[in-house]
Amino acid sequence: MEKHIAVLPGDGIGEEVMEQALRVLKLIADQYGHRFSTTKALVGGAAYEKFDTHFPDETNAICRSADAILFGSVGGPVSEMHLPKWKNCEANSILSLRKTFSFHANYRPVRVIPELQHLCPLKKEVIERGVDILFIRELLGDCYFGEHKTFNSPAGVRTATDLIVYDEEQIAAVAEVAFKAAQKRRGKVTSVDKANVLDSSKLWRAVVKEVALGYPDVILEDMLVDNCAMQIVRDPSQFDVVLTTNMFGDILSDAAAVLPGSLGLLASASINKDGFGLYEPPGGSAQDIAGTGNANPIAQILTVALMLRFSFALETEASAIEQAVETTLKEGYRTRDIARAGEADQKIVDCKGMSEKILDHLAVKASIR
Ligand code: IPM
Ligand code: MG
Repeated sequence: MEKHIAVLPGDGIGEEVMEQALRVLKLIADQYGHRFSTTKALVGGAAYEKFDTHFPDETNAICRSADAILFGSVGGPVSEMHLPKWKNCEANSILSLRKTFSFHANYRPVRVIPELQHLCPLKKEVIERGVDILFIRELLGDCYFGEHKTFNSPAGVRTATDLIVYDEEQIAAVAEVAFKAAQKRRGKVTSVDKANVLDSSKLWRAVVKEVALGYPDVILEDMLVDNCAMQIVRDPSQFDVVLTTNMFGDILSDAAAVLPGSLGLLASASINKDGFGLYEPPGGSAQDIAGTGNANPIAQILTVALMLRFSFALETEASAIEQAVETTLKEGYRTRDIARAGEADQKIVDCKGMSEKILDHLAVKASIR
């Protein structure tokens, strides 16, 4: 297979973890006989320095001519947030990409590997029931893209509004994604909304119910968002696919992200209706550890697996990466974010050390296939 990939490392740890992810991509190409060419482009603060914008036209053009986008992370150090380079950096970069390429569905898988249960902040007996959730978050609607306004009321009171907008087509499209995903998993969709208050949620619930009629093999359950937040912490094993709106998905997927033990273990995919996708670790630019060598490359490496699966339908290669990551973790290799005091047999490695172990396992796996 021959594919071209736009590579946008961004800021903070983006560059260093992307370097390791690209080594994994290269090994897959060599071992499985594919040709993956890459073009790097600037985004976020790195782009602002050169182009005075967080999402330059040049980057847009490189993404447009690619078969998929591998994204690192964007954003600046807390102490420099007031500088133009970092102001609104995340929103300008990420939201522009979503809008430009109409990425309407966001996949955020959250899984606790049994051998890594001790990294999860919940009680052992809760985690032992199993945690394997796929969040499907709608990405183009809600108050994210509705009108934002800040104004003075007639009485001179400073006021701000953000409009939530959903139409039935948007809801149906993302619901289809969730039901299809559930068919390949454990056959359950939990649709999360705030239908006891919001009209947009009432419409959401009604449309999701209509879409469900086309998937009689999938169980649909509705849940209010406040209850869902509680259930994620109380008993995450009850969830298979969680389908939800842009804002609720943002919050709930971050809450669930602590379950595996570190944001450094999570990858996400944003897909449009033509199957074009952007692959991103949702963990952020972690400026506090950038350049120290302590970043965890696993999230970025797993974005490569998601890209191979969703954009290129290379399931064997994608699961080979996931298995190599899992084996490496089971052997006790730990970057600092997932190291735990007192854990027997853990071997602390840096960013490069972690990916080298993963590459070793991948090479062995590919050579014996
Ligand atoms: C995410 C992020 C973004 C979002 C921000 C940076 C705009 O939090 O991808 O979850 O809210 O969607
Ligand atoms: Mg978020």
